[in-house]
Amino acid sequence: MERGLFSSKLGVILASAGSAVGLGNIWRFPTEVGNNGGAAFILIYLVCILLIGSPIMLSEFAIGRHTHANTATAYQMLAPGKWWRVQGGMGVLVAFIIYCYYIVIAGWTLFYAFASLAGMLDDPATDFSLFFDQFVTNPWLSILFTLLFMAIVHYIITRGVQKGIERYSKVMMPLLLIIIIILVACSFSLPGSKEGLNYLLNPDFSKVGSETVLSAIGQAFFSLSLAMGCLCTYASYFGDDTNLPRTTISVCVIDTIVALLAGFIIFPAVFSVPGLEPEAGPGLVFKSLPYVFNQAFHGMPWLGFVFSFLFYILLFLAALTSAMSLHEPVTAYLHETRHIDRKRAALIVSLTCTILGIVCCLSNGVLSDVRIFGLTIIDAFDALPAKILMPVGGIIISLFSGWYLDRKLLENEITNNGKLKFRFFCIYVFLLRWIIPVAIGLVFINQLITL
Ligand code: PFF
Repeated sequence: MERGLFSSKLGVILASAGSAVGLGNIWRFPTEVGNNGGAAFILIYLVCILLIGSPIMLSEFAIGRHTHANTATAYQMLAPGKWWRVQGGMGVLVAFIIYCYYIVIAGWTLFYAFASLAGMLDDPATDFSLFFDQFVTNPWLSILFTLLFMAIVHYIITRGVQKGIERYSKVMMPLLLIIIIILVACSFSLPGSKEGLNYLLNPDFSKVGSETVLSAIGQAFFSLSLAMGCLCTYASYFGDDTNLPRTTISVCVIDTIVALLAGFIIFPAVFSVPGLEPEAGPGLVFKSLPYVFNQAFHGMPWLGFVFSFLFYILLFLAALTSAMSLHEPVTAYLHETRHIDRKRAALIVSLTCTILGIVCCLSNGVLSDVRIFGLTIIDAFDALPAKILMPVGGIIISLFSGWYLDRKLLENEITNNGKLKFRFFCIYVFLLRWIIPVAIGLVFINQLITL
């Protein structure tokens, strides 16, 4: 079967970084930093990226590139008849589940970009908390924007690996970086920028405990798109000359820089409006920030407008490149393993996810009473992968590549059959065998306790 390949090194890096850079960087990371002791959390997070995130990413790249197959087939090829191959199917399943609710939240970003353009966020007297609640509980509007977002992802995926994923990543990622730089500059010009930076960067070690480390590991996993079949599938489109260690470092560095810059955008802005507290999650970007756009730019409402529109476009672009990477593993699985024509496979994924996405939309309104273990449907779609499937997947990948895979095979894959030097191979294997399973195991047990 003809398989797509990324055509350039830049395409490889931007597509993979596009998967990693997403809503997790822009709203989740800054609030985690704020809640967990500022710079102290950043330091711990960096250690987690280095010692846990990057080795797992390298393993996923090696597995995908070695087999040049979708995630499910990749594990089947490397461990025929062995139970390890469940990880392949689980990766596809996790991507599928996350995609169903990710398109809903991504639809919100699209709606807010429209709302900003249409001047709906311009009236300082608006109660933006109510505005948000009315939007998410309005079935037609939230479904409309979910469908719109889904249609865009579907279009890109049906264009294929090179003309779809690679081409659009090459346009969207640089655009995203430019918008970030403009927004950081705007934010730094605000009166509250010093206080915001203090909040973000002052290490407060009194807030650091075992919880902090666990949050940092969870954040690193989500932010780097690990254990969800996405990076493994993308790596199956890498050429045999792709430098896997270098790609891993580039993606980790880009993802971390974007997360830090997002903090530099949000906190100076939030602190420039008296009385506004940094909230967590959607509340921060959809309820608090519209006040900032209105009130922070005294005498320059046009700057507030530019800031607001660019900010939601930024969120939209970040969500789009991540959503593409969630759609692709499932499409590739149906196409290659179930032998369904690629366009039809993409359509099946899009339609199924649209139906489940609509259910997720409605779970904020008319279906809000339907509960799964006490959670609304959309929250359950989030919790199942984040709290159970992802940590289990992380442990399986590290044990699989550390203990089960032939060491020579792994080393040959990572060094392109000896053409590259990878001096840290022994440390990498040690981390996979011992440190990572124990660290993720602790996160997992902790999450089970707090479930
Ligand atoms: N890494 C993305 C983010 O930070 O928002 C989210 C994500 C994308 C998670 C792809 C999982 C995934 F497979």
